[in-house]
Amino acid sequence: MLVKVNTGNVHGVDAYRVVVEVDASRGGMPGYSLVGLPSARVTEGKVRVRAAILNSGYKLESRRVTVNLAPAELRKDTAAFDLPIALGTLGAYELLPPEAFAGRMALGELALDGGLRRVNGVLPVADLAHRLGMRELLVPRENAEEAAVVSGLQVRAASTLQEVARHLSGAEEIPLYVPGPEPPPASALLDLAAVKGQAGPKRALEIAAAGGHNLLLVGPPGSGKSMLARRLPSILPPLTFAEGLEVTRIYSVTGLLGTTGLIRERPFRAPHHTVSQAGLVGGGPGPRPGELSLAHNGVLFLDELLEFQRPTLEALRQPLEDRQISITRARASMSFPADVQLVAAMNPCPCGHRGDPRRTCTCSNGAIERYWSRLSGPLMDRIDLLLDVPAVSFEEMTGDAATECSADVRSRVIAARRRQENRPGPGRCNARLEPEQYDRDCAIDAGGHRILKTAVERMGLSARAMQRVVKVARTIADLGDAADIAAAHVAEAIAYRRLVM
Ligand SMILES: Nc1ncnc2c1ncn2[C@@H]1O[C@H](COP(=O)(O)OP(=O)(O)OP(=O)(O)O)[C@@H](O)[C@H]1O
Ligand SMILES: [Mg+2]
Ligand SMILES: [Zn+2]
Repeated sequence: MLVKVNTGNVHGVDAYRVVVEVDASRGGMPGYSLVGLPSARVTEGKVRVRAAILNSGYKLESRRVTVNLAPAELRKDTAAFDLPIALGTLGAYELLPPEAFAGRMALGELALDGGLRRVNGVLPVADLAHRLGMRELLVPRENAEEAAVVSGLQVRAASTLQEVARHLSGAEEIPLYVPGPEPPPASALLDLAAVKGQAGPKRALEIAAAGGHNLLLVGPPGSGKSMLARRLPSILPPLTFAEGLEVTRIYSVTGLLGTTGLIRERPFRAPHHTVSQAGLVGGGPGPRPGELSLAHNGVLFLDELLEFQRPTLEALRQPLEDRQISITRARASMSFPADVQLVAAMNPCPCGHRGDPRRTCTCSNGAIERYWSRLSGPLMDRIDLLLDVPAVSFEEMTGDAATECSADVRSRVIAARRRQENRPGPGRCNARLEPEQYDRDCAIDAGGHRILKTAVERMGLSARAMQRVVKVARTIADLGDAADIAAAHVAEAIAYRRLVM
């Protein structure tokens, strides 16, 4: 008897339909063959499937069993086909009615005792099931919350193969999975109020948040660079549902979702400087998304920027521009989203104390020059704000001056973002204005023009650097609710192109 079971296979952050065809015939040599470009991981499933079926109380006489994974031309590398293969085998042995498989999709890994284990990539498959109009999706219990993110899809979650088989035979229905209550919005985000003093850097952080600008923090050890960077998500606009879905997909296929459902906070990723190129931008076996994609719709923080391998940083160039990363493999190419706000931090010199009024820098001029020359030019071209983070004074650290909390700053950021979104065009914030939008939206008044001209001549700004200044000035104007960019906006933006030191 030939049986067909629907399942899905993940490709990038999407899934495509796979039909598991199982045939168990009485004639010929008994045996088991699996075709349809399976990886070793899928092939090994044979052992799990067999043991799981026997340990669930079913008896299988020897027959010639053939499993085909269609379409055959795409490589399949997942343990999630265990469940559909097991169900198909039970169907082929006439232990389940053939009509049980219509309109249903199933995925999950099997344990030898017949238990169901969580798998990666359930969200993209759930989305696929919904788009295909499947009436229900059968998943391991630990993946239920994730599957239930797709509204309008009926999810049934089980802990064992036997539960699923009894559901399909009509012996005992698995109740519809009801998602858990939405967690309270109050989150564990770090608050800007904890940072004493540092009015200048905080203002720059607000501008960066308001316009989506990339930022480099330069300052002596312990001045609070990491502290400031980690608080950027707390002043960014909250993640929308659509953005959250994109982020959740990436974590789902990477296997970092655990048993949770929708991700509701902007990601903040701070990879260590020893990270490999594949670890940072994605790749390796799978291929897997890298830190850059795990930071999608959030913040990628590169602390101790100069400690990163130069080629690793260079690999960021194109994806930072494209806001996605394409990985090509022999058989297929796939892309992962990578729309991040980049924040980097470094010391001003090898000893770290250059420009610090309380400590003397022990570095030679040559050493300082060599140190700065290690900064990758193309990466610096993608930084909009260069920022001095001086050591905090004793008075500021010990004083009890009230500091503004993140919620207040965030409300100004949201207001400025709203002004940007109200202007027509594809660029969602000033940092990613398209050329046409730039020409239309970045009108500068006469005073601003004069200042910009002087700065371009004195600082030798390239056309690209000048446009970055203007985009930052646009954001400063938006924070001040100004229609045109004025002299004060340009002047402040120019100040973020220069380090004092
Ligand atoms: N402005 C500040 N207000 C309150 N605490 C601060 C401030 N600046 C620094 N600190 C304290 O100093 C610690 C070190 O700060 P942080 O790690 O952010 O420094 P850093 O500039 O990243 O240093 P490094 O260059 O060594 O990485 C913080 O965890 C915090 O306890
Ligand atoms: Mg630090
Ligand atoms: Zn020094």
